[in-house]
Amino acid sequence: MEHSDPAPDRPISPDNQAHIPVLIGPLIAAVGPVSGHWLDGTFGAGGYARALLAAGAQTVTGVDRDPLALQMAAAWAHEYGDRLHLVPGNFSELDQYAGEALDGIVLDLGVSSMQLDQAARGFSFAKDGPLDMRMAQSGESAADLVNSASEEALADILYHYGEERASRRIARAIVAARATAPITTTLQLAAIVSACLPRPKPGQSHPATRSFQAIRIAVNTEFSELIEGLMAAERALKPGGMLAVVTFHSLEDRIVKRFFLNRSGNDAQTNRYAPERAEDTARFTLVTKGAVAPDAEEIARNPRSRSSKLRVGQRTHAPAGPVDPAALGVPVLPTSYNTRPTHKPVQKAGSARKAGSARKGSR
Ligand SMILES: C[S@@+](CC[C@H](N)C(=O)[O-])C[C@H]1O[C@@H](n2cnc3c(N)ncnc32)[C@H](O)[C@@H]1O
Repeated sequence: MEHSDPAPDRPISPDNQAHIPVLIGPLIAAVGPVSGHWLDGTFGAGGYARALLAAGAQTVTGVDRDPLALQMAAAWAHEYGDRLHLVPGNFSELDQYAGEALDGIVLDLGVSSMQLDQAARGFSFAKDGPLDMRMAQSGESAADLVNSASEEALADILYHYGEERASRRIARAIVAARATAPITTTLQLAAIVSACLPRPKPGQSHPATRSFQAIRIAVNTEFSELIEGLMAAERALKPGGMLAVVTFHSLEDRIVKRFFLNRSGNDAQTNRYAPERAEDTARFTLVTKGAVAPDAEEIARNPRSRSSKLRVGQRTHAPAGPVDPAALGVPVLPTSYNTRPTHKPVQKAGSARKAGSARKGSR
């Protein structure tokens, strides 16, 4: 879940209810009737997995890249016996975990309340902690990125992954600050960002919201995970199988929206250039015609749900195939920020100049 607001400290309860599942009612209604083998690629506190099991799934494979999420589930997963199978890993490889064609897949993108609310995980600009932000608790941390990336690469990350218009100013301030001493804590980074921006008016979000989102996306290679996860889901589902994706910000919702339009033959590109009729090549049919948003009651009960959107598609018989990330509106970074071999930023050769020139003068 995407969380931009500070939340009161909450303990992680033994029954894993610290994270409130978002849009779960509309999701179960849209994908139902539920039966067979489902995969939850973002297991978290297991709220979706439990709801699927309660709704009629015979078995659920729960995947999470955060070892802590699966450790927490050990306290209750046995209640479901062999109906619930937990796998540590990335959902970009979800087609390798199931062992058979799936009846449904759910992805609830972003970070969980457990991750956000624990200062030690370093996701929150509202609580002091080490500048970490790694969902998998391994690899390059946010501190590594912030202290080693070039000023240009930092500005590009902030602009393209956070839609931060003051990206160059903030990148310059980060580079100036780290010349004195490394930036190691969340509040240090939040203060550097805040000093570059006007004081927020009442009701406006914290000035560091967009920068923290951008750095988190880069550290966790979230866009390449999403594209590869959507493609893996297309390969893994049986005909008639359901794919439900919940997003929390406009950049990831745009990717999911365009994926479903492209794969259902409903985008301009497919209709104009595909030689075959769309109904013969469509890999999905749209179950939700637009995005489903939480109602006022859900937002009042769980303010963190307010920016969530649900989109659902149903797999057809057409064979799976590759997807061009450029058709999905994936933000392209003009400069590489890789400092470790496992990074997989989505880059498309030849589009860097276009992306660079499009932003000229805007920051
Ligand atoms: C919003 S929470 C999911 C909450 C869950 N639906 C629930 O009801 O408890 C997102 C979870 O997905 C995990 N996650 C995010 N990206 C992932 C990826 N690419 N592969 C596997 N897990 C991922 C995070 O570690 C986090 O635990």
